[in-house]
Amino acid sequence: MCGIFGFVAPQPLSAELVVEALRTLEYRGYDSWGIAYTVGEPGRDELVVHKRAGRIPLSLPPAGLTTIALGHTRWATHGSVTDQNAHPHLDCTGTLALVHNGIVENYRALRASLERAGHRFQSHTDSEVFAHLLEEILKKAPSAGPNGTAMQDGRWLVDAVRHAFAQVRGLNAFIVLHRPSRQLIAVKSTSPLVVGLGPRGVFVSSDAVALVGHAHRIHYMTDDEIVVLAEDGPRFFDRCTGAPRSPRWEHLSLRPADTSLGGYPHYLIKEIHEQPRVIERILRDRLDGARQLAEFIRRSYGTFLVGCGTAGYAALCGSYLFSRIARRHVNAVIASEFKYQEHFLTDRSLVIALSQSGETVDVIEAVQAAKRRGATVAALVNVTGSTVDRLADFTVPLSAGPEQSVLSTKAYTAKLAVLLLTAHILNGSEHVGLDVLWRAVDGMQQALAPATLDRIRAIADRLVRAEHCYVIGRGLSYPTALEAALKIKEATYIHAEGFAGGELKHGVIALIEEGSPCIVFSPLDETRPDILSGAMEVRSRGAWVVGISPEPDDAFHLHVPIADVGDASPLVAIVPAQLLAYELAIRRGLDPDKPRNLAKSVTVK
Ligand code: F6R
Repeated sequence: MCGIFGFVAPQPLSAELVVEALRTLEYRGYDSWGIAYTVGEPGRDELVVHKRAGRIPLSLPPAGLTTIALGHTRWATHGSVTDQNAHPHLDCTGTLALVHNGIVENYRALRASLERAGHRFQSHTDSEVFAHLLEEILKKAPSAGPNGTAMQDGRWLVDAVRHAFAQVRGLNAFIVLHRPSRQLIAVKSTSPLVVGLGPRGVFVSSDAVALVGHAHRIHYMTDDEIVVLAEDGPRFFDRCTGAPRSPRWEHLSLRPADTSLGGYPHYLIKEIHEQPRVIERILRDRLDGARQLAEFIRRSYGTFLVGCGTAGYAALCGSYLFSRIARRHVNAVIASEFKYQEHFLTDRSLVIALSQSGETVDVIEAVQAAKRRGATVAALVNVTGSTVDRLADFTVPLSAGPEQSVLSTKAYTAKLAVLLLTAHILNGSEHVGLDVLWRAVDGMQQALAPATLDRIRAIADRLVRAEHCYVIGRGLSYPTALEAALKIKEATYIHAEGFAGGELKHGVIALIEEGSPCIVFSPLDETRPDILSGAMEVRSRGAWVVGISPEPDDAFHLHVPIADVGDASPLVAIVPAQLLAYELAIRRGLDPDKPRNLAKSVTVK
């Protein structure tokens, strides 16, 4: 989940470039941050390391000029949040500095044996073992002399990293700075790494987004590669054999404007507002993708939608959409639970992986399980080139643009749009799907208009000190209730629970007391009479009821009107809930983009 970045440049650059890159990667973890870079002439150079617990400060003392640097932004797994445990980590001699994303699963055994060999550890992290392991291997490397030819071509270093990496277990990515040879070396297993080439040097990062403004061409590293970055460019080698390899360069299409705040105070509110444009783009550009996905579903015998968190709720909503629109049973499974149900998979199954980042470890494992059983894998992914994108037999890119708030919003509605369209295509009613989604685009615009915002702000004023909040929906609105509650939880730390409206009387209603806030999703569909009964029942027991619905009702203390867009109601109804989460976060003095304990891509278990 950590963000990692490094560069090697022929002409010195400010090490602040790394700090700026880390700011774009901070959504991957913000427990601590750190950089390391060399200063001084070759042979007489020194390693400067600066690392701290906490977020990257807005202003920092000027950093030096350097030709080689790396940095890290941490989501702590092993070792508490301290300066000491912040990356980069060094070997005993200060020759090597490294940054790591992942978990070295066998670090205890490795550490014990390295300590027995005399290595002194400075941190409690799993990551540091790799620095000492590499140091130990390099000590024994015959051609590791300071100026030998072998050192110049970096092959012995490649061999050392290959051997060290072969000894660590888990899903890991490392960038290692080797001071004497002024090279960075990067290696990975499942955890992502992207190499970028630009006019000022060569870069490597966990995310392509950190390469924007630096690189024109990028290469997504595969698990069987090692890359050495030197002043004269990158060289790629096979991780198993050490033989040279050729990268597959592609154009980096992201622009600086895609990653900027664009006048908004936070990414969350920017991304909420981007949703109508994202859906429009899907309707214009992804029709063929949805048609192909429909064909895959038609040919399959057993279709599974898998995802985590918000993507898992999109999967659940998808199963309702396929049932009601296409009369097709499509299973929705939380990706982390999928391995306990994978026994049903055959070579006729289709697994559709839903993931914004394409790097969520549980989704990757679900995809790998599906492939092992011969199933076909399709994916709805926002980050092109991500692991899920590359593993899938077929991808419908969500093209929502970088989602930088830790809270997922636009990728959620983008997934719903693709699933709804696909369900209609499967049903032979493509034009109906297109029509209803164009209406949803207008409906989302209305939900973002000042009139709705005024109501949302009134609700936020009332809920700002609430400890609990309940959210109910039925049918298509049940996943909406779950997703709305998740947004409120993440952004505000208010305990918010989503329920199927029908479950109320089976226990949940015991929670309702005088003034309990209860949000009710009530579209004009078959769920309306029953969900309104539920709303009335909680109201009778003292709940303060907010209705998100095209029509008012006596059950609501406060009504948030939304457009009636038929089966596309989940796309529109979620918008007021997203806005409410944002408004509450601001009122509670919280950073809506970086909630505590979270990170954008969950790449570890
Ligand atoms: C919630 C949220 C998470 C993600 C989940 C899956 O706001 O962002 O629940 O949806 O971690 O992430 P992806 O979609 O990247 O697989």
